[in-house]
Amino acid sequence: MIFHQPVKLFFGPGEIKGIQGIVHNELQSGQPLLITDKGLTQTGLAESIRQSVKIIEIFDSIEQNPTSLTVNRIGALARRLKPDLIIGLGGGSVLDAAKAASVLAANPGLIEDYEGAVQLASAPLPVLAVPTTCGTGSEVTRGAVITDTKRRFKMSVKSPQMYPRAAIVDPDLLATLPQPVVAATGLDALTHAIEAYTSRPANLITDHFALQATKLILGSIEAAHQNIARNKEAREDLMYGSTLAGFAFGNSDVGAVHCLAESLGGLFDTPHGVANAIFLPFVMKFNLRVCAERYKDLAVAAGIREENSLKAASELIERIVSISRNLNLPGFSDLGIDRSQFNRIAESSVQNGSNPSNPRQAGIQDYLDILEDALAG
Ligand SMILES: [Fe+2]
Repeated sequence: MIFHQPVKLFFGPGEIKGIQGIVHNELQSGQPLLITDKGLTQTGLAESIRQSVKIIEIFDSIEQNPTSLTVNRIGALARRLKPDLIIGLGGGSVLDAAKAASVLAANPGLIEDYEGAVQLASAPLPVLAVPTTCGTGSEVTRGAVITDTKRRFKMSVKSPQMYPRAAIVDPDLLATLPQPVVAATGLDALTHAIEAYTSRPANLITDHFALQATKLILGSIEAAHQNIARNKEAREDLMYGSTLAGFAFGNSDVGAVHCLAESLGGLFDTPHGVANAIFLPFVMKFNLRVCAERYKDLAVAAGIREENSLKAASELIERIVSISRNLNLPGFSDLGIDRSQFNRIAESSVQNGSNPSNPRQAGIQDYLDILEDALAG
């Protein structure tokens, strides 16, 4: 059993105020490149960091599903500017793009050349991850998910050398998060916890983090969604849960929910958390026959008191459905994806690197059935 977690975490409300010392003293960086998205440059957060940290350039053109085209652009920029650190400020898309670009800053070629689990010839540039949403977990994992623009396929780039060097996980950064983003990223974090607990590579240590993450996320997500600016405790629990879920899935894996969500993201640019929220209950129903006991453990962690495993699992699924409804997350039919696309989605899901980790073997027909169930609602 291996549990790898080399990221130095600066966790807690207000930790972002120490970024200058973390960048220049802790990480010994003199010329960091800041990667973020337009939303965060508009809030002024990127600029306020620039005022305390000597940034050589801000790149703020990360999409909601980062593409190989963009990562290759950042790679070229990094080879030209020669930064000594990449700071990723944003949600999972920004952090994944920062980690992928750090590979290109120190190695030749395009990001498409590094698909799958790879040993890199040169260590990537160090990365400081600063998550600003409550769902990614990317600040503590060794992978990046990037949309290959040509294939419209979300590929994984994974290497033990790709863990960020450090992460500032400050729940106060969630205070201005819009409600739909709280909903989508919170459900992404919940999916990480549930899939990590039930995935085939799960172990005793990942189980511990997955159960605790489930408890924290289910206990806080509705309150955080209602008023994240005012509810300090809820946003702390949600962010803590999101990072713990990252510990869990980063060392076990995700499963069929993510295979479907990444297929939709690659083919239709569907936001990752929204797609996870849609498919989570339907994949849980599909998996139920092989992991009722595991779902019962998660139900107990969520405070559901029911002795019978199948009933406990069903209550947990119902609870997740009702949370998604209360958080105004869309259903599958709201996405307007035509049935004629189902085969492509199913094929892409089977090809996903995490498909073998799902607790119940899932083939093309299984994914087609799940898609039909999700469409029926
Ligand atoms: Fe995810």
